Amino acid sequence: MIQIAPSILSANFARLEAEIRAVEQGGATIIHFDVMDGRFVPNITVGLPVLKSVRKITKLKIDCHLMIVEPNRYAVEFVKAGADMVSVHVEADYHLHRTLTQIRQAGAMAGIAINPATSLASLEEALPFADFVLLMSVNPGFGGQEFIPSSLDKLRRLKRMIDERGLNTKIEIDGGIGKENILKVVEAGAEIIVAGSAVFDGGNPTQAVRELLDTATIWI
Ligand code: DX5
Ligand code: ZN
Repeated sequence: MIQIAPSILSANFARLEAEIRAVEQGGATIIHFDVMDGRFVPNITVGLPVLKSVRKITKLKIDCHLMIVEPNRYAVEFVKAGADMVSVHVEADYHLHRTLTQIRQAGAMAGIAINPATSLASLEEALPFADFVLLMSVNPGFGGQEFIPSSLDKLRRLKRMIDERGLNTKIEIDGGIGKENILKVVEAGAEIIVAGSAVFDGGNPTQAVRELLDTATIWI
C-alpha cells in the first residue's frame, strides 16, 4: 500500500491542527514529524512537547524522523510521547542495534534513516532489526529542496537488497518529492512517501495529498 506522509515542517505551525485535518481529509495516513537539533543538521525544529500535543488531536500514525546527535538518548521518549514510528540516522548512532531494539520494545516501528552520501552497505547488518528504512533524497535540514537524481538508483538498489534478504522492510523516501516524480519513486520501490512543500506550499493541502495519491497509484 502506498502511503503519503505529509511533513509538517512545511505546515503553518500557528494553525497546525487545521493543517493536520486538511491532510487527513486528503487521505494521508501518516504525519511525518521532523525533529532537528541544530547539531546533526543546521536547523532546529520541534520536539517532545509539540509531539504530545499533536498526539492528542489526530489518530493518524505519527512518524518521528530524528535528525539529532545521540538519538539513543531520546528515541524511547518519542515513543512514550506518542510516536508510532521512529527513525534514527545511521550516521548519528554508534549503537544502532540497541536503539532499534528499544524502539520496538517500546511499541513503535523502528526505522533507519540514511543520508544521500552514505553507502547502503552501512545498513547491511542492521536491516533485520528495522521495520523501515528512511532514504533521504535531499540533505536533511530543510524543506523545499530539490530531489537528488541519483537517489532513484539508490532506492532501486535498496529495494533489491531488502528483497534478496527475504525481508519485508518498508522503504520511506524523504525530500523533494512532488507530483512530477512520485510515480518514479513508487515504481522504484518506495511505499511511504514524505512530502512537505508539495503538500503545504500550494495553499490546498487536502487537494495536494489527493493528487499525490492519485498520481502514485495511477497504475494500480
Ligand atoms: C528534510 C526533512 C523532510 C522535509 C521534506 O530534512 O527530513 O521531511 O520536510 O520536505 P520537502 O518535501 O519539501 O522536500
Ligand atoms: Zn523528514
